Amino acid sequence: MRLSWLPMRSLTAVKRPKAPIYSEHERPRLRRAGQFNADLLDYLRPFVVPGITTWELDRIAFEFTVAHGHKPACLGYKGYPKTLCTSVNEIVCHGIPDRTVLKDGDIVNIDATTIVDGYHGDSSETFLVGECSTEAKRLATATLEAMFVGIRAAQPYVTVYEVGREITEYARRLGYGVVREYQGHGVGREFHTEPGIPHYPYRNGMKQVLLPGMCFTIEPMLNAGTWRTVKDVKKGWPVRTADRRLSAQFEHTVLLTEEGSEILTRTRFGPQEGHRF
Ligand code: MF3
Ligand code: CO
Ligand code: CO
Repeated sequence: MRLSWLPMRSLTAVKRPKAPIYSEHERPRLRRAGQFNADLLDYLRPFVVPGITTWELDRIAFEFTVAHGHKPACLGYKGYPKTLCTSVNEIVCHGIPDRTVLKDGDIVNIDATTIVDGYHGDSSETFLVGECSTEAKRLATATLEAMFVGIRAAQPYVTVYEVGREITEYARRLGYGVVREYQGHGVGREFHTEPGIPHYPYRNGMKQVLLPGMCFTIEPMLNAGTWRTVKDVKKGWPVRTADRRLSAQFEHTVLLTEEGSEILTRTRFGPQEGHRF
């Protein structure tokens, strides 16, 4: 067959990411890890009420995880000290569970990652504590939807660029900032791998094509105000919004199959696609 007509330049420009491709043999293991992580969020759900500390939530998560014979992935990861990340109000991500008491009207993102028989499941939800402001509810609803916009965009042979563009375009119409310094990531045998999934249209993402067998997270952080963030210099990990306004995040682990995107971390009792807070 004559191939000389093929646009060779564009073919070589589209590089295959160094991302793991999961075989049919490994996919059930990814599904089990994702399902356990979702079960963990469902288990925590009734405890997320005014008066509990983030430290107590962390202890409950740790005990549930080890009681099932699994391993909290965050604990000891690059020196991280806890099982969960608990990010309250203006904290964007990587909040460390501590003596902080959750109070009526707070929003808290709880991010868990578990290693189940060598495979990682990674997901998070923003929980509304008690009765929250309209502003907080609108932000949480938009962030949940932004994650699903990304999940729907993530299809075989689509570029990473397009996923970020869709998410940011959706958030921009509602006037929200999309965090740039933290992104989705390949996940599976390891915690963080290729492909990186920026939630904004990042030019290098044009070269990254998503392929069946890839497993990655989509985890947009939307801010009520600016997308800019500041890292806590003393504690090292926590990241807050630069303007101290609210931030929300949702995360799912997604397996790309020949059919499309399959959510591996769907909870039974959490907010589903289309939910309004
Ligand atoms: N679970 C987070 C993510 O979504 C990573 C937390 S890293 C930790 O990628 F060390 F802070 F736990
Ligand atoms: Co993640
Ligand atoms: Co996570």
